[in-house]
Amino acid sequence: MKVTINNNVYEAKEGERLLDIARRNHAHIGFFCGGNAICQTCYVKVLEGAELLSPISETEKALLSDSLIQEGTRMACLTTVEKPGSISVISAVEEVKQMFENAPLQLVDYAGKMGREALVKFPDTMRLQATRKFDLLQLVTDVINGIGDALTMVLKAIQIPLPSAASCGCGTPAGGPLKPLHDKSCETGEKGEEKRTGPAKITPIAA
Ligand code: FES
Repeated sequence: MKVTINNNVYEAKEGERLLDIARRNHAHIGFFCGGNAICQTCYVKVLEGAELLSPISETEKALLSDSLIQEGTRMACLTTVEKPGSISVISAVEEVKQMFENAPLQLVDYAGKMGREALVKFPDTMRLQATRKFDLLQLVTDVINGIGDALTMVLKAIQIPLPSAASCGCGTPAGGPLKPLHDKSCETGEKGEEKRTGPAKITPIAA
């Protein structure tokens, strides 16, 4: 099946998270927490095919305001592709980029709006995060990988050459500060393939 992210069409598997599809294809999307539903930078707006995605979960409801949900906002790390069909989303960071390029003054309104929406959900967000149980090692690994991927995307976007990346094709500088990310999986071609196909395991909010 196919999914359109920021106007680019990508292959996707049933049950795959929107975040993983975007990351595998180096689409412009936020994921500072590595896909663990903490950073809330992975917002996407669904333009088409909302009914083909996983239903909005209680976790997403705790993190997204009602008005964002009504606008079609989902969290890419908590949303999976469930059925084939026409699915199209635009990421929040892509929206911001387009605003910056085309109508920078709108950014002030946008930042104000997102700040207000975050404030509305702040109590629910705090309650949710306080009740979650994290696998700390996995979390740290996800965050480091997320930062590494994001940095690589930025370097590519501003066209800074990545000298040692050519040897393995993973895009991670083998001799730089991200050396731990350049591992055996680079040579075997697994780098960039997300192993997790479902939403992050999240402890439900206590009743
Ligand atoms: S909340 Fe961080 S990637 Fe979704």
